Amino acid sequence: MKTIGIFSIILIIIFPSITISDEGEKKIYHYRSNLMEASATHLKALQGYVKGELAIQKHIPAHVDALLMLNGMYQDLFPAGKQHPESEAMASIWSNPKDFTNAIQYNRHKIMALKQVDPGDIKNMKRAVNEVRMSCGDCHYYFRDR
Ligand code: HEC
Repeated sequence: MKTIGIFSIILIIIFPSITISDEGEKKIYHYRSNLMEASATHLKALQGYVKGELAIQKHIPAHVDALLMLNGMYQDLFPAGKQHPESEAMASIWSNPKDFTNAIQYNRHKIMALKQVDPGDIKNMKRAVNEVRMSCGDCHYYFRDR
């Protein structure tokens, strides 16, 4: 009886913390997925624009700025520790933090280059948008498992 009592106290002490940490992993995973999806939305708008699909030219700088703003959040989206089971984040993010930061910076650099291009200059827009897309893909290649 005494042992059972102590055991349940231990369980009560341990259990809430397990539940909270599972919740934490889930929350950061969903937050991260949503922000990555937001990046994809802005990139798709730019890709549509350079393909000549329906797009409003005056929105283009806002899409580029949105990518820049989202890029500024990437570093905070990957806290070390146990990851949500559905996460595609690779362990190399935490074993090679410097390379991961470089991948963020490289993506930023390509978005900055895109920002310099006149939206009316479709040829250079096409190239710059594609380079941004490839810099997203570079990070996914090394740090996203799918
Ligand atoms: C520095 C690395 C890095 C950069 C740069 C990056 N991503 Fe990601 N992205 C990841 C990782 C890692 C994941 C997997 C996250 C997970 O599953 O926990 C991911 C996931 C995603 C997902 C899937 C989200 C989901 O779970 O539904 C999309 C879409 C995505 N990224 C789009 C983009 C786009 C578009 C860009 C560029 C504008 C970009 N990413 C730039 C690392 C990066």
